[in-house]
Amino acid sequence: MTAKKILLIGSNGLLGQKIADLLLRGTAYDLILASFAAESIRKLPSTNYLQLDIRVRKDVKKIIQAVEPEIIVNAAAMTNVDACETQREEAWKINVEGVENIIEGARKSATKIFHVSTDYLFDGKDGPYDEDARPEPTNYYGKTKLASENALRASGLDFFVARTIVLYGYAAGAKLNFATWLIQSLEKNSAVRIVDDQFGNPTLADDLAYGIMRGIELKRSGFYNIAGRDIVNRFEFSLKLARVFGFDPSLISAIKTKQLKQPAPRPLKSGLVTLKAEVELGIKPSTVDQGLMVLKNQISNHSKRLADSAPVPGSGRHKS
Ligand SMILES: NC(=O)c1ccc[n+]([C@@H]2O[C@H](COP(=O)([O-])OP(=O)(O)OC[C@H]3O[C@@H](n4cnc5c(N)ncnc54)[C@H](OP(=O)(O)O)[C@@H]3O)[C@@H](O)[C@H]2O)c1
Repeated sequence: MTAKKILLIGSNGLLGQKIADLLLRGTAYDLILASFAAESIRKLPSTNYLQLDIRVRKDVKKIIQAVEPEIIVNAAAMTNVDACETQREEAWKINVEGVENIIEGARKSATKIFHVSTDYLFDGKDGPYDEDARPEPTNYYGKTKLASENALRASGLDFFVARTIVLYGYAAGAKLNFATWLIQSLEKNSAVRIVDDQFGNPTLADDLAYGIMRGIELKRSGFYNIAGRDIVNRFEFSLKLARVFGFDPSLISAIKTKQLKQPAPRPLKSGLVTLKAEVELGIKPSTVDQGLMVLKNQISNHSKRLADSAPVPGSGRHKS
């Protein structure tokens, strides 16, 4: 009997890489990776990689028909919130039409879709929000993610949406996220100004990936908030990061969101209530301190691996 397959779209991203690792280690599914780049960011054992632009409907359809997955996990998106605000057509094509294309491709075989959404669905006036809170996005990124959720709701297909917030973590070659950007800045002793009026629960990407894997294993459907345990503002998060990593906290100063003059408005009093996911998926997301410790270990293990695989001086050969 051939193993059932999962098609993971956006496999090169932070979350995509974490999901790939967990599914390979923790499930019996065959995993097929797909992402926009010509090549997979990593070579993983027993996986195939397919180049895919989710904006191109016929390609999405072709790949889904060829792979015949039981499940599609979509971790692909245009994730730069300010770029979504200024490049609206592009944001809509990737975040909404891309998901509609996946839905159309999945329709024939009634494939179940796992998708990822955001707290930016909400206006940030009275967070934290549970799964039944009324969406009221204040920026274009949030509007595209709400439209992608609505496309799934209207599709008639079985789906699972994980809503998350301030996603952080380490994955080789992935774009910088808030935590890795901060580490890079503080490592160089650069002063940073961080907002102290945006509240939310920072989410370790590994925890989100685990929650999604539990959703797959337990065959859950519908909406789940999967987010970190602590609600903090970004300034508090930054000070905790400096403490865990041993950086100079005086490099970090507090400012207000208004002073940043970013193109996209941000929800201020946000946060996601995770009770449903904790009970129904049996997950226990990390606190900020726990998540930052995991991140620190991952970065230091990665540096050690790089050092171990560096050429041995004088030997002209790689160690392994
Ligand atoms: N980051 C956050 O704070 C945050 C918060 C809430 C929710 N989310 C959601 O969480 C999910 C994962 O986010 P992330 O931080 O892991 O994102 P990420 O690191 O930016 O990765 C996104 C991936 O999407 C792929 N992609 C972009 N355009 C594509 C296209 N046209 N066709 C195919 N693939 C395409 C990219 O592929 P290549 O690398 O191959 O180019 C990239 O690997 C997204 O749905 C995001 O909206 C993120």
